[in-house]
Amino acid sequence: MSIESVAEVLYKKKQRGRLSRYWATMGFIFQIIRDIDPKLRVVIDTFTLLGLIYSTRVVFSLLSTAFTGFRVHLWSRVWKIDLKQRYGEWAVITGATDGIGLEYARALAKRGLSLVLIGRNEVKLARVKTELSPITSVVTIVADLNSDDPTLYERIATDIDGTNRDIGILFNNAGVMYDSPNRFMDQPEDKVWQHVRVNIAAVLMMTRAVLPGMIARRRGLVINMSSIAAYKPLPLMGVYSASKVFVEWFSKTLEVEYKSYNIEVQTLMPSYISTKLTSFSDLLQKPSLAFPSAETFTANAVATIGRASKTTGYWSHGLQHFLTDWFVPEWAYTLSSWHFLRNIDNSKTK
Ligand SMILES: NC(=O)c1ccc[n+]([C@@H]2O[C@H](COP(=O)([O-])OP(=O)(O)OC[C@H]3O[C@@H](n4cnc5c(N)ncnc54)[C@H](OP(=O)(O)O)[C@@H]3O)[C@@H](O)[C@H]2O)c1
Repeated sequence: MSIESVAEVLYKKKQRGRLSRYWATMGFIFQIIRDIDPKLRVVIDTFTLLGLIYSTRVVFSLLSTAFTGFRVHLWSRVWKIDLKQRYGEWAVITGATDGIGLEYARALAKRGLSLVLIGRNEVKLARVKTELSPITSVVTIVADLNSDDPTLYERIATDIDGTNRDIGILFNNAGVMYDSPNRFMDQPEDKVWQHVRVNIAAVLMMTRAVLPGMIARRRGLVINMSSIAAYKPLPLMGVYSASKVFVEWFSKTLEVEYKSYNIEVQTLMPSYISTKLTSFSDLLQKPSLAFPSAETFTANAVATIGRASKTTGYWSHGLQHFLTDWFVPEWAYTLSSWHFLRNIDNSKTK
């Protein structure tokens, strides 16, 4: 039985469902072509072949996504990589005083790495140092990454001493977001500059501070914190969303440029996590499957180190990304995000 007659049968059965409707339509078109001229078989065969190629591509893509999800989010939790041996003794973390950065500091200390922790708040930094010093060596650097002091990164580079200290991992984590979702002109100018300095400039300059040592030692890992907001535009969080696109593209180029030096780059692109960054919303402050706590997220995300160069870091965020990527067009995504952010924002009532 030829493919066209299979399509014809499906058409005649008038089966319901998207796939059968698709085949039925194809069968109908083939029938019209045959009615015009039976010798037009070559046209039918060409369309059939194209359909088969497309379907095969879709099936492979689905299988590969499922396999990657299993390898990155499940297998990685079972089969752990020795981070110290693979990358080096020390990890540098920016924004290590709260949220995800603090949880990474805890998780990497448990994995045997020594830590250089960077934060703007001396008291909070000292508290983290007191907590983690019994487990590992901790060096703290007080630095406000929102500063426009031109000597800031020179000082940080000297304090890190990246060429002599065996820095294996740099986690560019520190970041800011709007205090409340709103239009661009409703954001204070200072907030806009914070996004440029903390979310963008700090990622570049911290990488410049640490990379020379990694290049000399021919090993290392740079983890850059982007966001799911970089996959598709996020209105009412415009500057944030754009700053995370910057991080994503910078990461990708860095990865290619320094691959030959055995330096890995990982881009993290999570969805919402329950931290003080998302304190504008009561909904996001309640940890759940969709919006995990920083601790739950980090347990998953740290396991993805060395397993994926770009990941949401958390399985349910991976699922969210898969569903929106496959089934939600950009216009629908931006429209629904707009209403979602407007509805979950409780900052005005606080
Ligand atoms: N939470 C989410 O939904 C989410 C989703 C995707 C991506 N991310 C990204 O994840 C990263 C961490 O966010 P988080 O949720 O953990 O936020 P958080 O709880 O607010 O922690 C942010 C950290 O960055 C530090 N920081 C902020 N501004 C700084 C500055 N000027 N100088 C030095 N340190 C500064 C904070 O210091 P203080 O303790 O002094 O405030 C804190 O340690 C950010 O890059 C964010 O964009 C978050």
